[in-house]
Amino acid sequence: MSLLKIEGITKSFGAVSVLHGVDLTVGAGEVVGLVGDNGAGKSSLMKIVTGMYTADSGSVTMDGEDIVSNTPGERRAKGIEMIYQDLALAKQQDVASNIFLGREPTRSILGMQFVDGKKMRDEAQAMIDRLGARLPAINRPVGSFSGGQQQSVAIARALTFNPRIVIMDEPTAALAVREVQGVLDLIRQLKREGIGVILISHRLNDVLSVTDRIVVLHQGRAAANLVTAESDMTAVVSAIVGGGDVAEAAAHELSAGGD
Ligand SMILES: Nc1ncnc2c1ncn2[C@@H]1O[C@H](COP(=O)(O)OP(=O)(O)O)[C@@H](O)[C@H]1O
Ligand SMILES: [Mg+2]
Repeated sequence: MSLLKIEGITKSFGAVSVLHGVDLTVGAGEVVGLVGDNGAGKSSLMKIVTGMYTADSGSVTMDGEDIVSNTPGERRAKGIEMIYQDLALAKQQDVASNIFLGREPTRSILGMQFVDGKKMRDEAQAMIDRLGARLPAINRPVGSFSGGQQQSVAIARALTFNPRIVIMDEPTAALAVREVQGVLDLIRQLKREGIGVILISHRLNDVLSVTDRIVVLHQGRAAANLVTAESDMTAVVSAIVGGGDVAEAAAHELSAGGD
């Protein structure tokens, strides 16, 4: 059974209709790629899942339970985590502070609450170890880390909410090539733990290498829902550019120089 089920989602911003009845499901331990041109509606659809945006119609369920009326906080409590493109990290603060931002473990001394620095560092290190992420030092400001290392911190932070679904919006877009594999390995680790992942990415080779299924959005419609193992680059690209029309896709590729 699907863990997360999105059905018939429609959304307009003013007069602009952005999503036209989109379906998408994710099971436990399943990695689903969400791809499509700029403006296809990928980020909007995911913000509807987290509750940041409200859909005009359609349903979103977790374990068969309707969550449309839930606040973003209630959805997070039900296990939906999204890591945004900008990562939302406090760049001046160290790893542990970022992982526990606003939820620092405290201890009581003479009836007063103090942040328990040791517990915080130990738990942060445990999260990093659980992910198998490599960081230079957890007591340095995360702003001094590479893009891939910052992505690891954002994922470790997400893990502290005990997510069942993690949505990642372009996690590798800004990374050096040698760092991309590290992030793909983190996604594989989430999968091994039984966490469902939705990966939004323009890097189709990454998507083909790490996902179980690929949903293609084309002008606000789910133009394809492909089993990755039975699919290839051509099928994905034709759905992205032509909404599944292979002839149109070929023409598009020709006019784009055949790349
Ligand atoms: N908050 C918003 N207000 C108005 N228009 C929006 C808003 N968010 C997204 N859009 C529009 O919705 C369309 C889809 O955008 P988006 O979901 O960001 O696509 P993608 O992530 O696939 O690039 C675009 O035309 C975008 O301008
Ligand atoms: Mg987007």
